[in-house]
Amino acid sequence: MSITYDRIPNNVNLHEDRQLQRALEQWQPNFLKWWREVGPDGFQEDEIYLRTAVSVDPDGWAVYDYVKMPEYRWGIFLVPPKPDRRIGFGDYRGRPVWNEVPGEFRKELRRIIVVQADTEPASVEQQRLLGHTAPSLYDLRNLFQVNVEEGRHLWAMVYLLHKYFGRDGREEAEDLLVRRSGHPDNPRILSSFNKPVRDWLDFFCFAMFMDRDGKYQLAALAESGFDPLSRTTQFMLTEEAHHLFVGETGIERVVKRTAQLMRQDPNEDVTNCGGIPLDIIQKYINEWFSAALDLFGSEDSSNAAMYFAAGLKGRFREEDLWEDHVALQGSYVLEVPEPSGGMRTVEIPMRRAMNQLLRDAFVADCERALARWNKVLEREGIAARLRLPSQRFNRGVGFYAGYRFSPTGELLDEAQWQARRDEFLPSEKDRAYVQSLMVPVYERGKFANWIAPPARGVNGKPLDFEYVRFHHRSGA
Ligand SMILES: [Fe+2]
Ligand SMILES: [Fe+2]
Repeated sequence: MSITYDRIPNNVNLHEDRQLQRALEQWQPNFLKWWREVGPDGFQEDEIYLRTAVSVDPDGWAVYDYVKMPEYRWGIFLVPPKPDRRIGFGDYRGRPVWNEVPGEFRKELRRIIVVQADTEPASVEQQRLLGHTAPSLYDLRNLFQVNVEEGRHLWAMVYLLHKYFGRDGREEAEDLLVRRSGHPDNPRILSSFNKPVRDWLDFFCFAMFMDRDGKYQLAALAESGFDPLSRTTQFMLTEEAHHLFVGETGIERVVKRTAQLMRQDPNEDVTNCGGIPLDIIQKYINEWFSAALDLFGSEDSSNAAMYFAAGLKGRFREEDLWEDHVALQGSYVLEVPEPSGGMRTVEIPMRRAMNQLLRDAFVADCERALARWNKVLEREGIAARLRLPSQRFNRGVGFYAGYRFSPTGELLDEAQWQARRDEFLPSEKDRAYVQSLMVPVYERGKFANWIAPPARGVNGKPLDFEYVRFHHRSGA
């Protein structure tokens, strides 16, 4: 699995397949054009202290150095194949994994890859303006690190499309550069990836909740019986861990700063001193948590059942956490709303409940993070606590879509919802207030007033390290 530094860095012996190499080298300038058009706005000539994947060796897979973003070495890296790996679940359990696309599942597999792929450029587009209001050089650098790695995740998926799906794979790869987040006529595939990310609290919530959905999707695909998909998603998870860190510690730092400012004001009102009130943080959590829940799909899903049966997509840590890898027995019980009013109980056969099982694993992980943020409040001597809203709240997909629920999960009628909506989700006023705090802080070692500094810098560097070297701007 040695790395070749051709025009496209890779550990898949790309040079041995001239046709594939040529096809990807033709896609490369289109990718760069896309990056320049809708990637980070500005900053393309600046030198960013970035890590670049150079190996899949767990100790030493990345190097850190100053890079101009358009010169980032986006590459294709798969972890080495496990000898004699077998399909771990579903109807084909125990058979050797597939190294070519199984013909009967070609369409489903392509769909899985395209949907995952589409989220990667979408997030870059959603975050493209944030550099202008970064709270520090450290945060600015982290934003761009996430952005370039989402670009690499797109490469990881496009490689699969080109290598294994022939002509229609190449067409899908082109379309990935054509759709645009939030575009009225040609939007990204999943609706949550068309939501605007307007400020840095949005960004931290995005990296916390939306990227965490990504972690669980990638983990389910790492179980796949289609071995190239498993091997590429395993390596993507290595990079993804940093995105989750940025989100989780980002919110933690905001919570910490808010708590400090609350103690300084006799009425615990942080708007007097430029902090973000806890109730606004709570509303942002409500918004992005519910948006992320939608990404898992319907609670009762025949597609999910089919993906499991076919061995294409497993559960979170299928091998370690589950005993019955066939899942033809048992069911998942859920309270769902009735069109005629009230709630009823449904029993979903296990295989059809795979989306919901993955969502539950995600929710448990989010609960862990919430407990951590609440520990910060406790340590700072603040009595209030943050919480996750009910899974029923503010949903656009599945049983709860089209109904109104409070964050604590009570069914509301439309009038009740309208009267209380601004208690649950950020109001225009909340958003305008947060926006008013978004002024860039580009001085080394300085942080915006609404956020605490992180515990440590990047890659052992101090907090006042020059994480971004701005190239000289005329007039600046
Ligand atoms: Fe990603
Ligand atoms: Fe990510």
